[in-house]
Amino acid sequence: MIVLRTRSAVLAWRAGLRGPLGFVPTMGFFHDGHLSLMREARRRAGPDGTVAISIFVNPTQFGPNEDLDAYPRDEAGDLEKAAGVGVDVAFCPTDPRELYAGSRTWVEVEGLDQHLCGRARPGHFRGVCTVVAKLWGLIRPDVAIFGEKDYQQLAILRRMHADLCLGGEVVGMPIARETDGLAMSSRNANLTEHSRQDALAIPGFMDEVRRRFAAGERRSAALIAGARVALRPGRVDYVELVDAADLEPVETIERPALCAVAVFFPSRGGGEVRLIDNAVLNP
Ligand code: PAF
Repeated sequence: MIVLRTRSAVLAWRAGLRGPLGFVPTMGFFHDGHLSLMREARRRAGPDGTVAISIFVNPTQFGPNEDLDAYPRDEAGDLEKAAGVGVDVAFCPTDPRELYAGSRTWVEVEGLDQHLCGRARPGHFRGVCTVVAKLWGLIRPDVAIFGEKDYQQLAILRRMHADLCLGGEVVGMPIARETDGLAMSSRNANLTEHSRQDALAIPGFMDEVRRRFAAGERRSAALIAGARVALRPGRVDYVELVDAADLEPVETIERPALCAVAVFFPSRGGGEVRLIDNAVLNP
């Protein structure tokens, strides 16, 4: 596998590339969820195509009180895992200046960032959109793959991709879960043994919402009633029911909707880990 460290190295590599190119942008510390995105990129690029990833813990998407320094990192392990699922090229800038030196341009998608994680983490999606737009310009993929665990991120990036005529295609992949139901996340590694158990309250609550919905309940308030008690081992950031397309809150579900949660649990380092999960409810 080729590892590229600089913007100019990426441009030189890209200029010489022919054939389909699949891309998975990441912040590293890979779990099976990441690897499933890479396998999908491999499948879509085909045997003669190329699969590229990026590993970059993007500072501009972290708020001043967020876990940028605590974000888990293991580049050597990541590169080995990526090679194992057929990744050909990894862009791993060692210095954020490689992407941000002299930068004065920010990408913001209006409206879709007003709820859920956007409200809880002001500026987060501006950082995500800006770095993904930069990576898209450098890598110029035919297809880029993102996970549906970050549903709002995917919705915002789809909008950005269409609005900026970036070319290629954005593809979403279903949430990968541990055998006990917890959504896979690099942040799970920072949970204490105890909070890892407590975090199972999240998939338990999502199952209950799905059960109520399957039983015919369509009122949002009734679907998420008791959420704070059900999720109590953690500190609830938000529990919301929104329209699956525009992410506006809904009172009664008549079109596909999204139940999304973010909950904090104690971390090994003494702070907190913020976990997210979601379920699409399709009437
Ligand atoms: O989902 C992530 O890992 C990040 O938000 C992304 C898309 C790689 C941008 O830094």
